[in-house]
Amino acid sequence: MRLPKDFIMGGATAAYQCEGESKAHGKGRVAWDDYLEKQGWFSPDPASDFYHKYPVDLDLCKQFGVNGIRISIAWSRIFPTGEGEVNQEGVDFYHAMFKKCRENGVEPFITLHHFDTPNELHKNGDFLNPHTIDCYERYAKFCFEEFKDDIRYWFTFNEIWPVSSGQYITGTFPPGEKYDVVKTVESMHNMMVAHARAVIAFEEGGYEGQIGIIHSLETKYPYDEKKPGDVLAAEREDALTNQFLLDATFLGYYSENTLKHINFLYELENKTFAPKEEDMELLKKAAACNDYLGINYYQSHFVQEYNGESQIHHNGTGAKGTSVYRLKGISEHMFKEGIDRTDWDWLIYPEGLYDQIMRIKKQYPNYKAIYITENGMGYKDDFKDSTVDDEPRIDYIKRHLQWIAKAIEGGANVKGYFVWSLMDMFSWSNGYNKRYGLFYIDFETQERYPKKSAYWYKEVSETKEV
Ligand code: BG6
Repeated sequence: MRLPKDFIMGGATAAYQCEGESKAHGKGRVAWDDYLEKQGWFSPDPASDFYHKYPVDLDLCKQFGVNGIRISIAWSRIFPTGEGEVNQEGVDFYHAMFKKCRENGVEPFITLHHFDTPNELHKNGDFLNPHTIDCYERYAKFCFEEFKDDIRYWFTFNEIWPVSSGQYITGTFPPGEKYDVVKTVESMHNMMVAHARAVIAFEEGGYEGQIGIIHSLETKYPYDEKKPGDVLAAEREDALTNQFLLDATFLGYYSENTLKHINFLYELENKTFAPKEEDMELLKKAAACNDYLGINYYQSHFVQEYNGESQIHHNGTGAKGTSVYRLKGISEHMFKEGIDRTDWDWLIYPEGLYDQIMRIKKQYPNYKAIYITENGMGYKDDFKDSTVDDEPRIDYIKRHLQWIAKAIEGGANVKGYFVWSLMDMFSWSNGYNKRYGLFYIDFETQERYPKKSAYWYKEVSETKEV
């Protein structure tokens, strides 16, 4: 199958996972600093030392046909406490790095928030506190103005559902709370309001360039299509994890179907979902300002009805078969015969990505373009003879690209793909042994080594044949 000639073949990164120097050069702390220190499992320093090694990484991009890079700006490198004085050293670092991107012919796609709210704001409720929305808007406006000559492509947020649910449902993100669906929805809504305020500011600022948001979309299928309970579970989980955010992004209001399920989940807790009128007006206004949607896609879920007490066990070590996900009133995630999964129990199901792309096209025809902003395979790499023979990763990426090509053939406007990840870095709740990169990193020496997948990716980038 063939991808369009001008299709971006990019690599994705995130500041906290690759930069290192997490408490240096004037950078303020983030919630993850306390969380990881308490856990004592692994450190965010030096990570992939991108802070110093970016010239090497961008040179590798050039050599291996990676013509776009997703990079996030660390909010607390610019505003150490999330507000107040600017840290000029942080600003200078990003200017220098963006300049290097241009010199290497690598288009930078910038994410303003990738899981790293400054600690001062996090401690006061993160996005549950409207003050964080005010601070985020100020930070976004600062970046638009400061980097307007460097950057053409912006994303306001990376993955609102995984952040909010990691914080309040699975407990794998700080503050590590569990099973609180209501808090999760409140946080998602507030983050969408922050997104709205940023895209409106971008539009009103008359900046050149484009802006959008990245959602993590996992397709939900009933485990047994013949069981109405499973069908309802899939629909309800989709409404909570996908449709809620897509409605807010593209409709600017929550559709009847979304509200039906969200209200049900609130009623279970004797609460009412009552977003403020002025916030809904912002969502409405912002819905017309999205230039594109970023989709992060790794897996789909086969779900069955579940009404017992919530029970979640996160497989963070790669011990296959140990994950448990049962959420009261919503669903239980099932393994399905014939569908392979990674050692971390992530189902490998590329059709799910196709289904999400086609769903956007059908359900939200006002979408303008889609980038696949993350997709890749976490794998225990076997480093031998200065490389890694990562055939399973190649196969994973290839199959997903084939389904993307099929979606494009079906009329979807997909403009690029960013493999997660460009180089190895740490995984938030799985440490350093869950590797995703095209380039292997020896974390002791910080040397980079192209994996077999890097050579394969270069070929696809050149030929656009998958
Ligand atoms: C996405 C995030 O959710 O998935 C990345 O945007 C993350 O930051 C990636 O690393 C892979 O997830 P994990 O948990 O395997 O690191």
